[in-house]
Amino acid sequence: MNTLQSRRNWLKSSLGLTAGLMITPALADQLLAAPVSRAEESLMWLSPPNGKLVRLGSNENPYGPSARARAAIQEAMSEFNRYPFEQVNQLRALIAEKEGVSADHILIANGSSETLCLAGMAAALEGGSVLSAFPTFRSLMDYAVKFNARWDRVDLDEYHVHNLEAMAAAVKADTRMMFVCNPNNPTGTVLESGKLRNFVVEMAKKTTVFMDEAYLEFLEPSEQQSMVDLVKQGHNVIVSRTFSKVHGLAGLRIAHAIAHPDMVKKLSKYQMGVVNNQAALAAARVSLQDTDFPALTRAKNNEALNYFQSYLDKKKWFHGKSRTNCVLFPAPKDGKTILAETEKRGFQIRIWDYQQREWCRVSIGTLDEMKAFTKVFDEVVA
Ligand SMILES: Cc1ncc(COP(=O)(O)O)c(C=O)c1O
Repeated sequence: MNTLQSRRNWLKSSLGLTAGLMITPALADQLLAAPVSRAEESLMWLSPPNGKLVRLGSNENPYGPSARARAAIQEAMSEFNRYPFEQVNQLRALIAEKEGVSADHILIANGSSETLCLAGMAAALEGGSVLSAFPTFRSLMDYAVKFNARWDRVDLDEYHVHNLEAMAAAVKADTRMMFVCNPNNPTGTVLESGKLRNFVVEMAKKTTVFMDEAYLEFLEPSEQQSMVDLVKQGHNVIVSRTFSKVHGLAGLRIAHAIAHPDMVKKLSKYQMGVVNNQAALAAARVSLQDTDFPALTRAKNNEALNYFQSYLDKKKWFHGKSRTNCVLFPAPKDGKTILAETEKRGFQIRIWDYQQREWCRVSIGTLDEMKAFTKVFDEVVA
């Protein structure tokens, strides 16, 4: 069913030849999740149409969409024949009110991937470089590199937490943007908020700091120390959020960023016009006010995360202290075999290259999925 083949050959044969479509290598790369290791470059997985593959590869929320989001989409259907001009403004106003800023501080995007793309492009078009920890979510830097910027990377520390001192030392005269992902993907690790705040204030004097807070809501509400207040204080900071994770709306592609109005203008000028759809806007509107569904996601995720981190601890396999829905640990066997053998058994995970070795990144599914996965993983690495 899921034979593993070369990524491009597969696309050539199944899309190009069977369906008679012309696809370029660039399109092939866009159709597939960007590979983060040599193992992934040489193999590919595809969810079978019958959906039998358990997806532990994209940090998705297995519990979404919420009942409220589903009802809102149903209700919005009568507007699906209309462009969503008012609805975009409505969501922008709601977010602005919640964050205590004016609406021109808010960018509504087609998933935070779009925000990352816009920021990477905008930074690169000014010439110079972008700086981030590594490994981290790489879209912003990948886009900057596509537009000829240099990507300077700073390894995480020994606990897989951002090494802020080393990052500060890596800022150069031509650093146009620093990307900070807190909590971080692929490690799920969190920075201590006081230390982070001081760091961001200092760095923002030298360059634009892009704070990716896609996973912030996996922390308990009292721990969710956003850097939005630094935007309000006028620091050169962009804060990026998404409805894809805790709100479980990844398939609808809706997200937002909070930044100085000049920065919002700068980023939005590269947008394609109206990039959002009525269904996503309706679901986002109710999700923004919803505290129940995020709480349910957190509780269920924590249970499954604890189960999986205990499994790794019993094996004595190192992992950073994840507080989100993914965990990174050293691959106990070669990555290509792990990808192929886990897929054969119905599970999709990711392999990352870092510091001359391979790492497994496993997203946290339901508790039952994680129990089934650990059984399979035992077999795969035996
Ligand atoms: C840290 C981080 N930022 C942004 C994204 C992009 O998410 P989306 O485009 O669905 O908002 C992801 C997706 O996994 C992520 O892990």
